[in-house]
Amino acid sequence: MTGPTPKDGILGIQPYVPGKASAEGVENPVKLSANENVLGCSPRAVEAFAAAAHRLAAYPDPRATILRQAVAEKFGLEPERLIFGCGSDEVFQILNQTFLSPGDNMIQGEYGFAAFAIGAYAAGGEVRFAREPNYRIDVDEILALVDERTKIVFIANPGNPTGTILEGREVRRLADSLPESVVLVLDGAYREFADDPDFEDGFELARTRSNVFVTRTFSKMHGLAALRVGWGYGPAAMISAMDRIRLPFNVNIPALEAAVAALGDEDFQRRSIEHGRQWRSWLTQQIGGLGLEVTSGGANFVLVHFPKTPGKTAAEAEAFLAKKGLLVRYVANYGLPDALRITIGLEDGNRALVAALGAFLG
Ligand SMILES: Cc1ncc(COP(=O)(O)O)c(C=O)c1O
Repeated sequence: MTGPTPKDGILGIQPYVPGKASAEGVENPVKLSANENVLGCSPRAVEAFAAAAHRLAAYPDPRATILRQAVAEKFGLEPERLIFGCGSDEVFQILNQTFLSPGDNMIQGEYGFAAFAIGAYAAGGEVRFAREPNYRIDVDEILALVDERTKIVFIANPGNPTGTILEGREVRRLADSLPESVVLVLDGAYREFADDPDFEDGFELARTRSNVFVTRTFSKMHGLAALRVGWGYGPAAMISAMDRIRLPFNVNIPALEAAVAALGDEDFQRRSIEHGRQWRSWLTQQIGGLGLEVTSGGANFVLVHFPKTPGKTAAEAEAFLAKKGLLVRYVANYGLPDALRITIGLEDGNRALVAALGAFLG
C-alpha cells in the first residue's frame, strides 16, 4: 500500500537533532548540550506559572496582550510591531512561510542554526550557505550569494554553534547593502550574554528600515525553554502579513504569565548574565590551557576544536565525556565534525568538564 506522498522537498529535510539529555549507564548526567540556563529560571516565573494552573480551561489571549505590553515597555518598542511565538523557532517558521515561495532562496551562514533552514525547505525554498571564515559571519560572503530570488537572510547574533558576534557596523553595512525586498532577520537568542562593546541589538534598524526584523527568546537567559516563548520586532507591514498565518492561540496562559514575571525579575537576569560571562571566560581560558582551540564570544556556550588525530577527535571526546556523565553537543551536523559545543555549566560541572578533558587528552 502506498500512502500519501509528502510535498516535494519534505523528505530531503534533515530532522532537527536536539542536545542529548541522557547517557547509557549514567544517572543524573550534567546536561551541557542544549544551551539552557543552568541557574534554572526566576522563582517569580515559577510562581506565576503555578498560579495560572487554575485557568487551564480558558483559551489564551490571541494577542498575548500582557506580554506584548511588558516587552514593549521593557525595550521601548511599539507594541503593535511585536509578534509572539511558540519559541522564536515558530517566529522563524512564520517568516519563512510568509516571505519564501518555492524557487526563492534564503541565505544563512554555513554553520547557521538548523531551524532557519528547516522552515525554508518546508516553504519550498532553496537554502544558500555563506562561508564563515574563522567561524564568523562575513557580510561580503552573504552579499555574494544574493540574487533576484533571495527573500530572507537569517543571522543569529551571537551565532549558534559558533558563539561569535557580528559587530554593529557590519550588521548596518549588511542592512544598507541588501535590496529592500530581502528580509534581514537578526536572531538575538543569546544577545544578553554578549558583552562586546561593538555589539548592537538591531532594534534601531528594525524600527527605521522596511525589511529588518529582530527576534528574541525566553528560552536562554530567562531559563524558560520548557514554556516555548519567543518574539519578534519588525516593520508594521511585515508584522501585519505574518499575523495572518500565525496560529491564533500560539502562546499559552501559563507561558504568558511566567514570561511577564521573568521580565520583571532583574535580579535573576543579572545573576544569569554574570554567571554566563564569568564562566565562559574561565572555560575559554582553561580549555585553551589544555592546548585546544576555543571559539567563544557572546553566548552561554563555547565551541571547542579537536585534532583529527585518532584517539583525540571530537567524536571520541564526546563519548568519553558522556561516560563521565558530562553531556555536550557534537556539531558534525552543523558542518563542524571536529568540534564540540559546550554549554556553560554550574561551577562543579565546569570544573568536572575541564578535568575530564584533561584526562581525555592525557
Ligand atoms: C540561535 C538560536 N536561535 C533560536 C533558538 C530557539 O529558541 P526558542 O527556544 O525560542 O525556539 C535557539 C535555540 O537553541 C538558538 O540557538
